[in-house]
Amino acid sequence: TVELRTLIPKGFEVIGALAYGADADAQAAVYAARRLRKLLYGEEEGDNRPVIGAVAAGSGELKFFVSESGKSNSLEEVDSVVEEEHSEKYVWENGCLVRCELPIKLPVYYPLKNTSDVEKAFVRAIEAVVAKLRDSQAVYMLEALNKTSMDLPAPIVIRGGHLDFRADLSNIWPLAEGGDNFDVNSLPCSYFSVISKGSSGFSVENADTIQVSVLFNSLGPSSASAVPVAEYIPAQDEARLLVVDIKLDVLCYASKKLPLRHAVSRLIIPGLADQLNALQNSMLPNLLGQHPQIKPYHFSPPHVLHPITVFYELSFGETEMKQVEVRRSLHTRLGLPFDRPLLRIANALDFSKLKNGGLGSQQKGSTLLRDVHIGIPNSGVSGGSVSLVQGSYEYFHYLQDGFNDSGWGCAYRSLQTIISWFRLQNYSSIEVPSHREIQQSLVEIGDKDPSFVGTRDWIGAIELSFVLDKLLGVTCKVINVRSGAELPEKCRELALHFETQGTPIMIGGGVLAYTLLGVDYNEASGDCAFLILDPHYTGTDDLKKIVNGGWCGWKKAVDSKGKNFFLHDKFYNLLLPQRPNMV
Ligand SMILES: *[C@@H]1O[C@H](CO)[C@@H](O)[C@H](O)[C@H]1NC(C)=O
Ligand SMILES: *[C@@H]1O[C@H](CO)[C@@H](O)[C@H](O)[C@H]1NC(C)=O
Ligand SMILES: *[C@@H]1O[C@H](CO)[C@@H](O)[C@H](O)[C@H]1NC(C)=O
Ligand SMILES: *[C@@H]1O[C@H](CO)[C@@H](O)[C@H](O)[C@H]1NC(C)=O
Repeated sequence: TVELRTLIPKGFEVIGALAYGADADAQAAVYAARRLRKLLYGEEEGDNRPVIGAVAAGSGELKFFVSESGKSNSLEEVDSVVEEEHSEKYVWENGCLVRCELPIKLPVYYPLKNTSDVEKAFVRAIEAVVAKLRDSQAVYMLEALNKTSMDLPAPIVIRGGHLDFRADLSNIWPLAEGGDNFDVNSLPCSYFSVISKGSSGFSVENADTIQVSVLFNSLGPSSASAVPVAEYIPAQDEARLLVVDIKLDVLCYASKKLPLRHAVSRLIIPGLADQLNALQNSMLPNLLGQHPQIKPYHFSPPHVLHPITVFYELSFGETEMKQVEVRRSLHTRLGLPFDRPLLRIANALDFSKLKNGGLGSQQKGSTLLRDVHIGIPNSGVSGGSVSLVQGSYEYFHYLQDGFNDSGWGCAYRSLQTIISWFRLQNYSSIEVPSHREIQQSLVEIGDKDPSFVGTRDWIGAIELSFVLDKLLGVTCKVINVRSGAELPEKCRELALHFETQGTPIMIGGGVLAYTLLGVDYNEASGDCAFLILDPHYTGTDDLKKIVNGGWCGWKKAVDSKGKNFFLHDKFYNLLLPQRPNMV
């Protein structure tokens, strides 16, 4: 129940349900819609309006029925239905997002002797916060969330449920269409609209967003002068203080016509209260155990019109593997595909990006070159078929970030390129690890002694697979060949890898490591070329220099001058990271 209340943004209302399949039945749809309404809005609210029951029979034809409130058995077919062709445009043209972030440090005192009291104290502390949100002293400040725009509407302050007249309202009067009768308390959300009419991108990412800040310590005008007061509450027993960190982050949808103060009182405050209750329920069982770190994230999954909010427990570690069941059940509930990540932390909406224009995904602000192979000259394999890495990666090479790893860091750089691929495909939100962090991981899993950290020791394919497993939970296939001369025999297998997995491959042989981004293979002639991204490049990130210098390019095992690219007297290991077939 609680989970559903926090999953769907406040401001959207369930008004009906669709039943589909051969034996679909409108009554069942009506029943489902009413049940969901009761879960979301309470017994009474849930039953106070007519709901729609729609059926899609096998033929694909849609039929709509309406059921009056209070009469769950009455069904009347609707004969005229108006369909909105561009529903996404409709939703975001007429509405906006309202968001409120509220970090709370909740002090909970509990007696050492009887720790069962800590739960009661926690519940009381949560109740006190909810009461404070609704208190007439609570102050809410609203502003447009678009720091790139110069002339934003002035922020609005709402105090005790009313617009604060002390706020600067000088520039809102043009909105007062009714002249003298204009009631400032009915100032609508459209006051903060910055999207120009006719703008092309109507989506969650481009929606108008109103940022709400809660100010508890309001310095209202005090009638009497006062001195600071310290209150002393004696404890019966030895007591301890537990400070519970809570991060609330509520995202709501408001029609642009909705008065701003209602956006606060009907959407933001109930939204914060629901999140507090949800957090209370998930934290209570283990309040004194390992400190839970639960944080809400917002997502905008494909083909879902509204954003959703999900709580993730962060103390599980970075691979997010433990959360796979949570995500899988959400994918089921939302009808999302099961073969790719859509609800990982890397997919979450990042509102801080709005400050730099455009709401996008998290943390992708890296300045490194991406996808340097695009536009390079052909391989020269005639009649070959090209199989390439699928998706973006970043080019890591020697001497980057002012770190001189020339002569020993090529495998580390290749690993960084591989990890960047997993990041950019949203499989992980971890930062690309430095050489030192890579060494640290190898020590942590017991592969290396602590003295390994900080050395200039080489690593190879096996170490890379350990690190990928530890940091990302990714498994790898390894191919060994006894001599570089045997590599062309593996072309068919490599082509298959790029087609089914699409991840970059690390090739290690002798003292050199390369990243393999693709193969061009003619099955009939056996002719094959390798698309090599070379981490030994020491220059600046200048695409022209990189391509002209052949640091990213097609290499044949034997070039036109008869020179071998892969050494015949060296062993080669190929590391093929497997794409996780999971959400
Ligand atoms: C602890 O407190 C609960 C109620 O707060 C009480 O029922 C219980 O008997 C107490 N236990 C001890 C050991 O005092
Ligand atoms: C921010 O404001 C600018 C200028 O008014 C506008 O062009 C841009 O689309 C806005 N961005 C968002 C994400 O609303
Ligand atoms: C990763 O997630 C972001 C945010 O949801 C999205 O914009 C981006 O397209 C995703 N990348 C891939 C490769 O799916
Ligand atoms: C990097 O280190 C190597 C070996 O220690 C040295 O020969 C080279 O000059 C250094 N390069 C730069 C750019 O500092």
